[in-house]
Amino acid sequence: MNGYRRLSECEGIVVMKTGENNYMLQLRNISMIFAKDTVDEVTALENVNLDVREQDFITIIGSNGAGKSTLLNIIAGVFPPEKGGSIIIAGDDVTNLEEHKRAAYVGRVWQQPEVGTAGKLNLEENLSLALLRGKPRKLEMAINKKRRQIFRDALSMLELGLENRLSTPIGTLSGGQRQALALLMATISKPDILLLDEHIATLDPKTAQTVLRLSDMIIRRERMTTIMVTHNMEIALHYGNRLVMMHKGRIVVDMGEAEKEALTIGDLVAAFEQAAGEQFNDDSVLLSQH
Ligand SMILES: Nc1ncnc2c1ncn2[C@@H]1O[C@H](COP(=O)(O)OP(=O)(O)OP(=O)(O)O)[C@@H](O)[C@H]1O
Ligand SMILES: [Mg+2]
Repeated sequence: MNGYRRLSECEGIVVMKTGENNYMLQLRNISMIFAKDTVDEVTALENVNLDVREQDFITIIGSNGAGKSTLLNIIAGVFPPEKGGSIIIAGDDVTNLEEHKRAAYVGRVWQQPEVGTAGKLNLEENLSLALLRGKPRKLEMAINKKRRQIFRDALSMLELGLENRLSTPIGTLSGGQRQALALLMATISKPDILLLDEHIATLDPKTAQTVLRLSDMIIRRERMTTIMVTHNMEIALHYGNRLVMMHKGRIVVDMGEAEKEALTIGDLVAAFEQAAGEQFNDDSVLLSQH
């Protein structure tokens, strides 16, 4: 049951829609246990519930192994949650939808620029593939004049001079340029939800800032509903309209814009300690540059 639909600016493909109550994503009773019934058993997620409104931009923070990437993997359909869990995107129950089919709903940028882009293909070939993500294959990837102009316009928005390099193999781009392109590829087909998993973590501080600013610009411009995992509390506080903190497979802090705006890093550490019932001792989260 979709609330409403909006025409995409891109080739007239209808993509934007929300479920009941304007929730773009609803996670219900999501648990994930790896290596079940072995000595290596790990409960990565334990009964996570999350309602994400249309255009929410959620930053997720949490110590190593808290379950952040597992949560994004579950949303993207990399593996299904334990029985009893459900994932609703834009009003559709996608719990049992395979990853390649779920790509129509979810755009994603990973930590490594190499993932999610094809190094041997050039810019326009990569963007063409991105446009077709999650769509039936009979929509072939012909690169016509109109499409090339769409790519040029999208690339010039990045202000990295890439609009004049459509036939450059992307394996030759810098890490920052490639990550900026990965962002464009993740959003060009206007998915319902954008997932960013520490996508600036491997970049040098200056490039990381540039890619972060670009991310924010694209998210605002395209009105993307977004979940961004970061290891940097300052970034988590500064960006987005909602902040979620995870610990040991659970959501322990979930705060909205007003609460977040008034917060300092010290307050956030205190909130974490109160919610998790233990001292915050992950220096990498406090000291990380990204
Ligand atoms: N494919 C897998 N197989 C087995 N265990 C896994 C797998 N993926 C994650 N885990 C385990 O699940 C737990 C949560 O991992 P996850 O990668 O989600 O944490 P994270 O919050 O993203 O951590 P980080 O900040 O280090 O990226 C960890 O204990 C991890 O070792
Ligand atoms: Mg992770």
